[in-house]
Amino acid sequence: MSRKSPKQPKQSRKLRSESWFGRGDRDALVHRSWMKNQGFPHDLFIGKPVIGICNTWSEVTPCNAHFRELAEHVKAGVLEAGGFPLEFPVMSLGEPVMRPTAMLYRNQVAMDVEESIRANPFDGVVLMMGCDKTTPALLMGAASVDLPTIGISGGPMLNGKFRGRDIGSGTMVWQVTEKLKTGEFTEEDMIEVESCQSRSAGHCMTMGTASTMASMVEALGMGLPANAAIPAVDSRRKVLCRLVGRRIVEMVREDLRMSKIVTRKALENAIMVNGAIGGSTNAVVHLLAIAGRLGVELTLDDWDRLGREIPCLVNLMPSGEYLMEDFYYAGGLPVVIRELGKLVHRDALTVNGRTIWENCKDAVNYDTKVITPIGRPFKPQGGIAVLRGNLAPDGAVLKPSAATPKLMRHKGRAVVFADIDDLHGRIDDPKLDVKADDILVLQNCGPKGYPGFPEVGNFALPAKLLKKGVTDMVRISDARMSGTAYGTVVLHTSPEAAVGGPLALVKTGDTIELDVAKRRLVLHVSDEELAKRRAKWKAPKPHTDRGWVKLYCDTVQQADKGVDLDFLVGSSGAGVGRPSH
Ligand code: FES
Repeated sequence: MSRKSPKQPKQSRKLRSESWFGRGDRDALVHRSWMKNQGFPHDLFIGKPVIGICNTWSEVTPCNAHFRELAEHVKAGVLEAGGFPLEFPVMSLGEPVMRPTAMLYRNQVAMDVEESIRANPFDGVVLMMGCDKTTPALLMGAASVDLPTIGISGGPMLNGKFRGRDIGSGTMVWQVTEKLKTGEFTEEDMIEVESCQSRSAGHCMTMGTASTMASMVEALGMGLPANAAIPAVDSRRKVLCRLVGRRIVEMVREDLRMSKIVTRKALENAIMVNGAIGGSTNAVVHLLAIAGRLGVELTLDDWDRLGREIPCLVNLMPSGEYLMEDFYYAGGLPVVIRELGKLVHRDALTVNGRTIWENCKDAVNYDTKVITPIGRPFKPQGGIAVLRGNLAPDGAVLKPSAATPKLMRHKGRAVVFADIDDLHGRIDDPKLDVKADDILVLQNCGPKGYPGFPEVGNFALPAKLLKKGVTDMVRISDARMSGTAYGTVVLHTSPEAAVGGPLALVKTGDTIELDVAKRRLVLHVSDEELAKRRAKWKAPKPHTDRGWVKLYCDTVQQADKGVDLDFLVGSSGAGVGRPSH
């Protein structure tokens, strides 16, 4: 077979992959020979940027189940630009299937991604992301290596359609749960709804966590324009994959690394964009963790400060009425960034080598019902409110755009559930002593407590109150909530109950005061009484003494720090390891 290489684009800098493939010794023989069993011609190993395509395809991650086909389009783009694409799998996280929660494994995937990239002969990386946790996990892992990196999201499902109406993934689940409790829906109705919701490949098509994180990829500059909104099955998603493949090869030649893109300015842009899209509270922990990997100081206070004046412009479920397909047809995220105008850092660099403003300044809004102009926004408050007080000394968060306005200032009697089992056992008990103006408190559902920090903070209201027509109550927990959920829900209360945070000390009958405008969350119990309760408090028993869960519980940080493992914060770079033979 000929060893003659086709005409090569100029490659002036030594490639990292040359440490594997570009040598004339025994190690290079080993590295190349076994790879050749896949049919790769010799010239692919010489002087071409090797691009790792990090794939989270899995049949138990249904939101990413179409990624094998998308990866082929990325590979075609890499080859067109003169690179050598090599696809590799990492652990995938299927939000609707995994127990106890996909979030328990986000950091494990980040470790997998980081070590898979560093240990292999990659010069640049394409991250294929979709379902909620796959996006932050891949960004975190790649950040700790810091090669030229570009993200491509899998795209949202087509709009759900049920009996002539649009239904949104996730958001529909919460509505159906309530209708089942009140008797408005039968099990047959439920089965029909579930089929009507998920009718194409793709991730949740509400502005839930997946769509939020795909928007964060674009707002951070880590994805090409339109990354967030093109539906998964739209042919333009395939075109975008191909362009990503071409662009990553150029990025390697330019040595455009992730740390040059995800700067403090880019993270601030992402926080502001999260406010404007009415994005998920989950973005808070994920962006804090990504910043930690890159050594950028980012705090909960940044979220409150930067989001406070940002109105919600995007009328998508769960805050509004439309879905991601409509968002794309209206112009998508570039329109939102153009509307934010001078508020964003216009000079933040993106993966295509242009600034965020150059990418978005000419975006056209094709539907002002879906993306409202900033002068007459869909909702006045879009950002995430960060609450503090003696109940949350290290902070808690609430999404004002998904809350009931009249509950955002509320004082009420606490009705406490000690953990998720206690909640499930009593919440629908007709004898439960609860009134509509009470405040429901759920303990021990934080990072260590559950374990894994699940999305249970938006738990359904007591059946007996739902039947009376109550639609929302203040709920407080140390858990997260699904980005598709809504309600006056205080989340991420830190420190969590399982480590002895004040949430652990609340008792039924206490008075709690929530004041979102003043950012206050106060437990009206004296310091003396709290000290007495603390003296009696006992830490919960460890969940296990082995394996990943032990490592996680021993080292996980609290919500206000991003819930990364403490020893994973920071970066180890892209250095090449010793030879293996
Ligand atoms: Fe995968 Fe919603 S369950 S994105």
